Amino acid sequence: MKVLIINGSPRIKGNSSTLVKELEAVFLKENIEVDNYQIASKAIRGCMACNYCYEHHECVFKDDVNDLAKRFQESDGLIVISPVYYGSANGSLISLLDRLFYSSSFSKKFKVGAAFAIARRAGTTATFDELNKYFTISQMPIASGRYWNNGFGRSEGQINQDEEGLQNARIVARNMIFLMKAIKDAKEKYGLPETEEIKFTHFIK
Ligand SMILES: Cc1cc2nc3c(=O)[nH]c(=O)nc-3n(C[C@H](O)[C@H](O)[C@H](O)COP(=O)(O)O)c2cc1C
Repeated sequence: MKVLIINGSPRIKGNSSTLVKELEAVFLKENIEVDNYQIASKAIRGCMACNYCYEHHECVFKDDVNDLAKRFQESDGLIVISPVYYGSANGSLISLLDRLFYSSSFSKKFKVGAAFAIARRAGTTATFDELNKYFTISQMPIASGRYWNNGFGRSEGQINQDEEGLQNARIVARNMIFLMKAIKDAKEKYGLPETEEIKFTHFIK
């Protein structure tokens, strides 16, 4: 089993990276493969709604997004971590996630998701909600923890003092492993639930 971790921080040794290490240790102990990706200082532009992907099932821009889509397809779970910027997720990360989820056509159904927001002081719950929306529009169950997944710290490494945040991350990782295994077994035993042709409505009559 494999988990893809997308770290939306530009800081290589930032607090989000410390959280990644905390999660990774749990996964590796349980023999779950971890595929790490960090945005760092890469220029990831936003979606321009060209709908090239409708026909080609990939994004028109040839940056990391199409490669990440393949890595996501191969994974049983996806973790997204963002530093909080002005009460919201990092802008480059949102650009990446919009294009990743919009342009890829493989089923994300029953891949397990988990999101974390890292801040100095405020904006973590809004960011947590923002990130979870990518999962809940994709029929992805969410691995939850003992709190709304956050971590606190300003300068690099300060999150190490947030014992509760790091403990919660370990709990989420263990819950995620349980869910991924349970879903794998359930798929074999029961198959996937019945689905329906999409009714794509809007509100202009
Ligand atoms: C542009 C910018 C905006 C920020 N906005 C907030 C904010 O709204 N709330 C907050 O608590 N911290 C804010 N911060 C602080 C970061 O969230 C905090 O330093 C966090 O630890 C960064 O995570 P990282 O080390 O993984 O990059 C901001 C930092 C930057 C650079």
